[in-house]
Amino acid sequence: MINRERIQIEASILSADYSRLGEQALEAEAAGADGIQVDVMDGRFVPRVNFGPETVRTLRPMLKGIIDVHLMIVEPERHLAEYAKAGADRLIIHQEACPGRLGEVLRSIRQLGVEAGVTINPATPLSVLEEVWDAVDVIQVMTVNPGLGGQPFLHDQVGKIRNLARRLHELGGTTPIVVDGGIDTKTAPLVVAAGARILVAGSSVYNRRGSVAENLAALRASVTGLQT
Ligand code: DX5
Repeated sequence: MINRERIQIEASILSADYSRLGEQALEAEAAGADGIQVDVMDGRFVPRVNFGPETVRTLRPMLKGIIDVHLMIVEPERHLAEYAKAGADRLIIHQEACPGRLGEVLRSIRQLGVEAGVTINPATPLSVLEEVWDAVDVIQVMTVNPGLGGQPFLHDQVGKIRNLARRLHELGGTTPIVVDGGIDTKTAPLVVAAGARILVAGSSVYNRRGSVAENLAALRASVTGLQT
């Protein structure tokens, strides 16, 4: 269930130390992360290959928070059940990976008993979501092009977040907006002011500049007290 009272922060383990992934996920949770985002890549939708259902199955018993799986893969419908069975609480698919059948794929996610999310790349207009407002539990706006962690934030996406928040308000909806890509202490306030309620952060949480706890505390502080 999404906690609507405060800004949710999910640590993306894409930038974590893979030799101790479980520990790093636990560190984020202990430092107040509301969940973990697992970035799945198939080498076709994006060039890299990363994380499979086994990663989710391994992390699930270790964690209390949400495990959110961001599927950067083609034909996501072929893999939904295995991630749900592995313990994912939410599956986020790319509209670009299932044009023309987005509603059908989202409904099949909900039929698995997990939350359904859709995400759109920076170049994809909000109009592609017009058919699926009632079929999603979250909408994720990419503020980088998918496929890599540590990329610079695309400021031209802030207007898209604002327009999405406005459209959702018009529809009377309460679907939370997730923002993923280049989220740090400078960009987090911008996207929250535009209407984002769930932040996905990878390289600003897992880096050599500070500990996971220090980095998450700074990120949380950057959005605390903002008018939401
Ligand atoms: C893009 C990934 C990243 C990741 C977060 O393929 O989806 O956006 O979650 O990475 P940072 O926070 O390092 O941009």
